[in-house]
Amino acid sequence: MDHSIQNDFSSLKEHYHLTKDDEKLLLEMRPLIESIMEDFLDGFYKFIWGFGKTANFLKNEEILGRHQGEIRKWYLNLFSGKYDINYFLKLYKIGEIHVQLGLPTHYVNAAFNYVRVFTLERIRKNCIKTDNLEVRLKAIEIILDINLDVLTSSYRQEEIGRYLSLSSIEKKLLGFLKKASSYFNYLLAGALVLVAVFAICLFGFDVFLLFTKQIAFEKGILTVLGSLLILWAAIELIHEEMNQLRGGKFAIEAFITLAIAALIRKILIFSLSPSKTTDVVLYGVLVLCLGISYWLMVGKIYQSKK
Ligand code: HEM
Repeated sequence: MDHSIQNDFSSLKEHYHLTKDDEKLLLEMRPLIESIMEDFLDGFYKFIWGFGKTANFLKNEEILGRHQGEIRKWYLNLFSGKYDINYFLKLYKIGEIHVQLGLPTHYVNAAFNYVRVFTLERIRKNCIKTDNLEVRLKAIEIILDINLDVLTSSYRQEEIGRYLSLSSIEKKLLGFLKKASSYFNYLLAGALVLVAVFAICLFGFDVFLLFTKQIAFEKGILTVLGSLLILWAAIELIHEEMNQLRGGKFAIEAFITLAIAALIRKILIFSLSPSKTTDVVLYGVLVLCLGISYWLMVGKIYQSKK
């Protein structure tokens, strides 16, 4: 850890206006915190279990048990009244461990929301008769904010560290690639809109053929249905691209959906012509393969979300 981080720690109390009186009040509340500890822990794990991927981190009973012990200590230490450099170094280390585990910073932020709401509510209830209730609540807010600041500073340091370790050419290249990829994304979005427009034209053309009786009625209906399917898949692709432009991930399975839609359209059309039986079978096999790929991909994504 470098010197500037240590300096940051010593100015933290100053920046958050944590006074000696606040420290004394926090220590005074410690017995009360001990008495509500079990409720706190119960609620904490129920709360973080709702994050979805919690089980990927707290993988087994042993790790969970260890974490419960650590959280118990951490929560009690919030009310130790002694917030020196060792206290902050320990907090920083906790943050670093979370970073190394790849724990999303959002999980820590959200967990803090539980800690804040639970603690303030319990103190309000139990200290309603004390004349300095508001000062107590303010002291809790301050120590929680300081904790969150230090715990998440490891995340910021990691990001900054990763960026600073790049050479100037690498940084320039990174900047250039970022810009280029965002331009290409807009280009792709434009091309997808064009595909959707073509799909609408195809739909219009199929309807036209049906109404002008240039195509048998049965075949006409199936063709129209096929072009609608393609239009729907193209719209799905545009949705995915919009997601990516908003900063999300592009779901590659949308492309598979489009390919399946196009093949189904072919099958619908060919199924009426007896001479194209082998084509229909071939297209069927292709749809099956794409279907299996789609299923594998979506299954994997679903599993990683669990
Ligand atoms: C208020 C928020 C949190 C606090 C204060 C906290 C605190 C801690 C502490 C004190 C440790 C032990 C660090 C050490 O070994 O020195 C730890 C480790 C760990 N934390 Fe957290 N944590 C929080 C949120 C979470 C969440 C939300 C998850 C998972 C979803 C999580 C997963 C872990 C894991 C997997 C470890 C390593 C456990 C081990 O192998 O010993 N933490 N955390």
